[in-house]
Amino acid sequence: MKLPPGARFQTICIHAGQTPDPGTGAIITPIFQTSTYVQEELGRHKGYEYARTQNPTRAALEANIAAIEGGKAAFAFASGMAAIDAITTMLSAGDHVVVTDNTYGGTFRLFDKVLTRYNLEFSYVDTSQPGQIERAMRPNTKMLFVETPTNPVLRLTDIAKAAEIAHAHTVRLVVDNTFASPVVQQPLALGADLVTHSTTKYLNGHSDSIGGVVIATRDEDIEQLKFIQNAAGAILSPFDSWLVLRGTKTLALRMAQHNANGLALAEFLSTHPKVVRVLYPGLPSHPQHDLARRQMRGFGGMVSFDVGTFEAARRVCNRVRLMSLAESLGGVETLISHPATMTHASVPPERRQAIGLTDSLVRISAGIEDVADLIDDLTQALND
Ligand SMILES: Cc1ncc(COP(=O)(O)O)c(C=O)c1O
Repeated sequence: MKLPPGARFQTICIHAGQTPDPGTGAIITPIFQTSTYVQEELGRHKGYEYARTQNPTRAALEANIAAIEGGKAAFAFASGMAAIDAITTMLSAGDHVVVTDNTYGGTFRLFDKVLTRYNLEFSYVDTSQPGQIERAMRPNTKMLFVETPTNPVLRLTDIAKAAEIAHAHTVRLVVDNTFASPVVQQPLALGADLVTHSTTKYLNGHSDSIGGVVIATRDEDIEQLKFIQNAAGAILSPFDSWLVLRGTKTLALRMAQHNANGLALAEFLSTHPKVVRVLYPGLPSHPQHDLARRQMRGFGGMVSFDVGTFEAARRVCNRVRLMSLAESLGGVETLISHPATMTHASVPPERRQAIGLTDSLVRISAGIEDVADLIDDLTQALND
């Protein structure tokens, strides 16, 4: 391990968890595509018995991401949803969870359609308002599950404040850090107990893998996550682990460009006559711009904007040429989407209304192309 003590973020991304292969010296951790490991004799092996339980490629990725988020251990799962599902196994029937109201639609679906059948209770509140978090706490509350910035209305939660409230009630704070990435914010340093990512997005960054990860700090949480990873078995494959590990090496560089392009697109859109409203934490017009400046390092690559009517939103989505109309985010290529009919179609209309997710809202995941080409594309798509 070449990583010096006190190594800085970009160095950690490249070197943490990366030891040259002891057999060959290969600088890149190989894809250990094996289901089992030969044991030397009964009861003697090299720490690897069966690949659901341990895999060196996955272990290298987990060590890498744990260091990137400043945690003690990380656990990689087959998707972002599998990672969130694993976190919820820390709960028992009768427990209550407070959740950001504008959470990712798939998270809402898991909580509302699956976990309520196991006698778990969920309250959805605007966690950008600390008073709402405080009022939602009950004697049986065990977890506060926060997304910041939210998808797609880009509302922020003050993570340090949320941690303070959660801990005063002996409640765990979980932060889904998918939208920001650890370059932009590290929730554990602000007091969160667990961080989760869909690695499908910025951590992998190349739109060619589905995966998820949970980063933990407490020994009891680490034990439970290790147990459930093996017991339920929703592990990340060796090949996907290798892909994400390749992605994290360029995370800092990519995020710098995502941040720059996100800000430039938000500024362009905010001066465009056809655009009614732009949602981006980096704009002074964002209601929580001060919190964004305090809590985030760069404002991310996600920009949402309102074009007034569903028809106008449809026109923009259908007319872009360089941007691709697709779900997902965080890849090197720019994507455009219509949240109300795509990513958030499973959220009931009245809930969409309550969080400001209008039918005229368009979302962009800014890639890392030359931003002038992205602005040209939006200009022609917004023109009559
Ligand atoms: C914020 C957030 N969390 C979790 C997920 C789920 O991740 P996956 O699609 O990898 O299961 C997504 C997917 O879009 C997401 O946007």
